[in-house]
Amino acid sequence: MLIKPSINILVVENDITILQRCRELLVNEGHRVRTAESVEEALDIIQKHSGNVDIILLSLELPGWGGLTLINILQKAKREILIMAMSADCGEEAIEAMHAGAYDCIRKSFTTDRFWTKMNRAIEAFRLWRQLDILTRQRQAALTRIPHEENLMAIFNSITDGIVVTDWQTNIVLFNAKAATLFGLTEEKTLGHPISVSIKSDELLSFVMRAVKSDSSLAPLMAGEEPVVKVEEKAFRVHVDAVKNDTGTVIGAVGLFHDVSSISAMDKLRSDFLSMVSHELKAPLSSLLMQVSVLHDGLAGELNPKQKELLGKAKEKTKGMITLVNDILDYRRIQDGKSVQKIESLNLAEILQRTVELMRLSAEEKEISMKCEIEEDLPSFSGDRGGMEAIFVNLISNAIKYTPKGGSVNVILYKAGKDIRFKVVDSGIGIPPEDIDRIFEKFYRIKTEQTQSIAGSGLGLSIVKGIVDAHRGSIHVESEAGKGTTFIVSLPVEE
Ligand SMILES: Nc1ncnc2c1ncn2[C@@H]1O[C@H](COP(=O)(O)OP(=O)(O)OP(=O)(O)O)[C@@H](O)[C@H]1O
Ligand SMILES: [Mg+2]
Repeated sequence: MLIKPSINILVVENDITILQRCRELLVNEGHRVRTAESVEEALDIIQKHSGNVDIILLSLELPGWGGLTLINILQKAKREILIMAMSADCGEEAIEAMHAGAYDCIRKSFTTDRFWTKMNRAIEAFRLWRQLDILTRQRQAALTRIPHEENLMAIFNSITDGIVVTDWQTNIVLFNAKAATLFGLTEEKTLGHPISVSIKSDELLSFVMRAVKSDSSLAPLMAGEEPVVKVEEKAFRVHVDAVKNDTGTVIGAVGLFHDVSSISAMDKLRSDFLSMVSHELKAPLSSLLMQVSVLHDGLAGELNPKQKELLGKAKEKTKGMITLVNDILDYRRIQDGKSVQKIESLNLAEILQRTVELMRLSAEEKEISMKCEIEEDLPSFSGDRGGMEAIFVNLISNAIKYTPKGGSVNVILYKAGKDIRFKVVDSGIGIPPEDIDRIFEKFYRIKTEQTQSIAGSGLGLSIVKGIVDAHRGSIHVESEAGKGTTFIVSLPVEE
């Protein structure tokens, strides 16, 4: 509070004896005193020391402009100064002064006690007055703050994306109108309750947990593209960030939800169309390959070398197209979360054996020696047959594709602890270290002189990764450019 322990008092009196007496009494009590002998002089002091005059002890019997004039001037100027009148008899003039705004009147023939009785009351009144003034100002400040907060809430509620704020324990503390409609949030049901109760998404919860546990030294939580999170029937592009206080301590999380359900529906329509087209192409392409192969192999009549060469190229292109169509179909399956279509007890040894036999022909065409070692008595594996075949085909075909003529490809299936491991070792072109982390991305292909003539869509490994993840397995790659590559897939066997 700004209440000063001592009061600034201006004594305006032309009778020097009275002036000195007043001054002495007030100074002795620790108050700061200024004196003036006329209204003009008083006004001068008030102007010069604006804010430093709290009480004026004012004689009503001043020559020239009387004390009443000063009271009127100060009232008009709305100066926050308490005026204590002083007069010989506190008669008519005093009453007029009090009407004009003076607090009280002291007789000039005062005794010390009488002086202090009146002055103390005036000082007390002034202090209360000040205090009231401070409280009024504070209240006004608070009132101006309320509309500010209301404005912020209005802005918050007009945002077309949903916003949800949680505390550090992931309890919802604030949400905007859009979030309320999107997730059916209400103040009673939602505020103070965990976000997981109102918005059911494990993925979202993991983002919020990461945000509230985040360390300011960590990289931004959501670098790059924001993930799409599914909540019941809807899809949202979400951005979650930590909320920090002035000192940088994480006090909660804020999530922004952009509804992309309609875009996702469009996306689904588009990829369903792609699947449908791919599916429709698969059968005619397979029969085309068969017919071209019949021609190429001379089963429909002798061919001259030129015809054989052209049909050979046509056969390769058709094979490429079939692979692409299969990739698209496999990829769609994974996107739909259907990488595990049907779980059954599988004999991986038998599936691998058959796959290797099917691929042996393409290895022979490139004079690549292919060995296959399968450990005996492997336990059966619970998984999706189509998925396992896709893993074997993709990794073995890559090994053959990216190994030059005369190289080797070794395929091994063995047990390691609680896992069944599938290993493909080739002596091919290898993968440069800078590309190793990217080969599992969809459509990623390494562009070098050696790979430019090799056909592919860059989907194979992303499909493999999707299937391995769906079976709670892991895939690992070791490679040295020019020396060869080893892919190891570990699949956990459930006991
Ligand atoms: N065994 C390997 N040796 C060297 N490079 C490889 C090997 N396997 C994959 N790669 C590199 O990784 C890239 C991605 O492989 P991926 O199987 O995903 O696609 P792709 O073989 O190009 O096409 P497809 O979709 O037909 O399989 C390849 O383009 C290739 O550059
Ligand atoms: Mg491939």
